[in-house]
Amino acid sequence: MMQIDVLTLFPEMFAPLEYSIMKNAQDQGHLAFHTHNFREYAVNKHGHVDDYPYGGGAGMLLRVEPIVEQLEALQKSSHARTILVDPTGVPFTQELAMEWSNEEQLIFICGHYEGFDQRIREFVTDEVSIGDYVLTNGELPAMVMIDATVRLIPEVVGNDASIVQESYSDSLLEYPQYTRPQVFRDLEVPEVLLSGNHAKIEQWRREQALLNTLHRRPDLLETAQLSEAEKQWLSQQN
Ligand SMILES: C[S@@+](CC[C@H](N)C(=O)[O-])C[C@H]1O[C@@H](n2cnc3c(N)ncnc32)[C@H](O)[C@@H]1O
Repeated sequence: MMQIDVLTLFPEMFAPLEYSIMKNAQDQGHLAFHTHNFREYAVNKHGHVDDYPYGGGAGMLLRVEPIVEQLEALQKSSHARTILVDPTGVPFTQELAMEWSNEEQLIFICGHYEGFDQRIREFVTDEVSIGDYVLTNGELPAMVMIDATVRLIPEVVGNDASIVQESYSDSLLEYPQYTRPQVFRDLEVPEVLLSGNHAKIEQWRREQALLNTLHRRPDLLETAQLSEAEKQWLSQQN
């Protein structure tokens, strides 16, 4: 079972993890999820966990002591992956989610205000951002990363194929998918999907995934595993 611990000043914000697949993962024993309010390790009886930045500047910074003391109180083993949720970190990707889904314990540290005292970085294994924009808090990014990771734990989503063929799993975006009705207004399901010819369907899906990626995220094609024939086919599509 994977254990995920989150250091946060706002444990109530994690209510979304009590629903749907995240809830099932916990009920079925694939995930143990706990929040820890590091205000319990506040530096004084007034509950202070933040302070003014040395050298001046706007806003307040989270102090290092409450976070490190909370971290040390719950670190099960030195193998725990300890993740600082931070906009200056490396970008979160499907590949990272895949790597984390094999870990025994993940610990997320959520920031607030102007962020963290720099020295907290000495106590973590990863510093990760969810994108090139700034949110008010680390709780939302932590939930995004937890959700993307937990659904990759074997048996959590329940259908390995649906994960293997998804967008980003092989550096390609997913192909278009359709369900009933066969015709909605004048919008028809592509003929090939009704043909029953599995080889043709697979080929169509692969080509559509390649085209989707070419049109929407051409940068991904640089790392995608493509055959020579596919590279040539793609070069003729522009
Ligand atoms: C207002 S932000 C601090 C921004 C910081 N002063 C900076 O410029 O890098 C407060 C907290 O929100 C979280 N946060 C905001 N944007 C994020 C992002 N794109 N990825 C990950 N965490 C983010 C981090 O935990 C951060 O400490």
